[in-house]
Amino acid sequence: MCGIVAYVGDERAYPILINGLRRLEYRGYDSAGVALIHDGELHLHKCQGKVSDLENHVNGAPMLGTIGIGHTRWATHGPPNDVNAHPHLSTSGDIALIHNGIIENYAPIKEELKHRGHVFRSDTDTEVLVHLIDDIQRTEKVDLAEAVRLALNSVVGAYAIVLLSRKEPDLLIAARKSSPLVIGIGDNGEHFLVSDATPIVEYTKNVVYLEDGEIAVIDRKRGLRIKNIKNQYKTPFIQELELHLEALEKGGYDHFMLKEIHEQPRSIRDSMRGRLNLAKGEVVLGGIKDYEQKFVNAKRVVVVACGTSWHAGLVGEYLFEDLARIPVEVEYASEFRYRNPIINEDDIVLAISQSGETADTMAAIELAKSRGATIIGICNVVGSSIARVTHGGSYTHAGPEIGVASTKAFTAQVTVLALMAMMIGQKKGTLTGSKFYRLLNELDAIPGKVEKVLTSEAHVKYIADIYKNATNALYLGRGFCFPVALEGALKLKEISYIHAEGYPAAEMKHGPIALIDEEMPVFVIATKGASYEKVVSNIQEVKARKGKIIAIVTEGDTVVKGLADHVIEIPDAPDCLVPLLASIPLQLISYHIAVMRGCNVDQPRNLAKSVTVE
Ligand code: G6P
Repeated sequence: MCGIVAYVGDERAYPILINGLRRLEYRGYDSAGVALIHDGELHLHKCQGKVSDLENHVNGAPMLGTIGIGHTRWATHGPPNDVNAHPHLSTSGDIALIHNGIIENYAPIKEELKHRGHVFRSDTDTEVLVHLIDDIQRTEKVDLAEAVRLALNSVVGAYAIVLLSRKEPDLLIAARKSSPLVIGIGDNGEHFLVSDATPIVEYTKNVVYLEDGEIAVIDRKRGLRIKNIKNQYKTPFIQELELHLEALEKGGYDHFMLKEIHEQPRSIRDSMRGRLNLAKGEVVLGGIKDYEQKFVNAKRVVVVACGTSWHAGLVGEYLFEDLARIPVEVEYASEFRYRNPIINEDDIVLAISQSGETADTMAAIELAKSRGATIIGICNVVGSSIARVTHGGSYTHAGPEIGVASTKAFTAQVTVLALMAMMIGQKKGTLTGSKFYRLLNELDAIPGKVEKVLTSEAHVKYIADIYKNATNALYLGRGFCFPVALEGALKLKEISYIHAEGYPAAEMKHGPIALIDEEMPVFVIATKGASYEKVVSNIQEVKARKGKIIAIVTEGDTVVKGLADHVIEIPDAPDCLVPLLASIPLQLISYHIAVMRGCNVDQPRNLAKSVTVE
């Protein structure tokens, strides 16, 4: 949460900061701000609201300068308002600082600094950092970089920070611990500092990922130097960025979410590319090759994840248990890390994260690692923190996901989980030749089937129009489609603000059935497969209470068609792959309902895409 962009180079500083903030707005959109140095003066502009509000606030001011910092906020400490917006200034106004993360011990530091005469203007935890650095620089008579290093030695928490000083107008200083920071190296001494690489693709492909505990000192003349918090310097490791500009644009769609839903035939294909080989009849996952035997011998796999990634993990549980016969536990990362879990060296911990930055997932990994477990990652963002701390892993290759509500990342995660389970099942002998080969073909056919599902969009939109004013909704599924029900409900609540619950279909009888009346839409995944008859009975139970049934059914189904108020057909597929198809109409229905309700689909209220705080 919170997006950081900073730049030192030529007079394009302001447009680069603003465009960068727009790209990072998915990380939070409670307020935005920039600070630029021009003609020996520090110019600060910040306000509550989105980046567009900041542009209106600036209102045609010249915005000159060749060095600057910018921030888009997701509020943690202190409400979203103008004063709590970043950048924050030192008492003299000479130093400006932006921050992503949380300073846990800010309260005692703040008290101490107040006694020492520093004037606090905001309710944020961040503000202590700028005063502390300023205080240390004055009292210890050290340069700014050293003051930052000393200050960071006395704070507890997570941070990515960037600061600049009016007195040193050619210098940017940055540091990170647990929150991401990428350095872009452009031409002619130009440098960028960003929370992720999306703001810089059009300027440079050369990046350095700052590691935890490192401080970057960027001087217009001397270039980039990196040292750690113990004051030891290291040579920056420059990597080439694999990201293309088109992937970051809407490409003719009204919203990123809609574009990302429609990208799924391609993104699912990309998740399988080079991994699923029909001709050879094999699955090869290069990133976990060294851990194949460990998987084969594993007594259990523990999945840690949050949000939609947790739902993908739940599909993973069913896949691993069914195909590879390995017991799986699926844990909310936030619960796992705080409850003294039993983890040992035989365990494999599978960390699933689209962003690769989620703070709770990261902390769960660290805990499991400290207890000797093998950590395998399934991440979408290449080079992200989680991808770098895991022992091995497989990227999902879904491409950048910008809509806050996750869509293509979910289906890509499920695809990778299916590949893993199939590969391990084959190696272990729990998935025999013909079944393995049939599944391989079925998985290969999924992108084509997703294309077909997407052709039902007009019909889905028609259904959305009927239920757009609902105040509650229920989602039911069984087996592999129980997690799809959870994910469907999450999609509806997060972007249209309609209260929705996902339930295993049979559990409906243990509570939710009390809610059903003629106003209640009930979305049921009722595809042909192991639980079909049972789900049909659940539909009867809903109908008997006058609930409205919207059923996702297998093409050609007549039984559910006769019972349901509406059906959406999807192509036939084995149970274990149905989530890849059934989730898509549910994404579309949430999207269209949210648009019809006038909601901001790509940036739903109170949410952020990358949750880098606990
Ligand atoms: C946030 C996002 C969700 C996402 C979750 C986990 O809540 O809004 O879309 O599923 O974080 O994020 P991760 O990046 O770890 O998958």
